[in-house]
Amino acid sequence: MTDVPIRVLMVCLGNICRSPTAHGVFEKLIKDKGLSEQISVDSAGTGSWHIGESPDGRASEAAARRGYDLSHLRARQVVDTDFSQFDYILAMDEQNLKELQARCPDQLQDRLRLMLDYGEPQHREVPDPYYSGAQGFELVLDLLEASCAVLLQEIENSRLSSKGS
Ligand code: 4NP
Repeated sequence: MTDVPIRVLMVCLGNICRSPTAHGVFEKLIKDKGLSEQISVDSAGTGSWHIGESPDGRASEAAARRGYDLSHLRARQVVDTDFSQFDYILAMDEQNLKELQARCPDQLQDRLRLMLDYGEPQHREVPDPYYSGAQGFELVLDLLEASCAVLLQEIENSRLSSKGS
């Protein structure tokens, strides 16, 4: 766990396709903006099948073609302490969100959102690309690049400006 003021957790089912992609995209955005000391990002899955694994090769390759490095990421499962440790807990789809809502203490429920609540009016969910072809991974990247940019803007507007950063 990093000791930075604002912590974001990206969540999907397996933590090998969508949430590591969101992790890599948002991490690069934060780094490029010089905000790594103000904002940190992590990712996790609601399921346990892939714990300890690297991201799916198709996700890593598609991400690398757009300049995102996912090679340092390893899958982990959501744990109960995540709900108190992270300020933003962002689910890739409705099912992930339901599972998080079922586990999260009442007083922390407002930390849970769908990732695409941030600026993607055409889509509500990031579709699971696991059983899709290469196009599925490109769509994941398209949706996440757009929503990560909006999320960062929202954090800068609502959280960082009031801290004088
Ligand atoms: P993710 O994709 O939730 O985006 O990581 C999946 C990865 C693995 C499985 C399902 C979805 N699976 O069934 O093993």
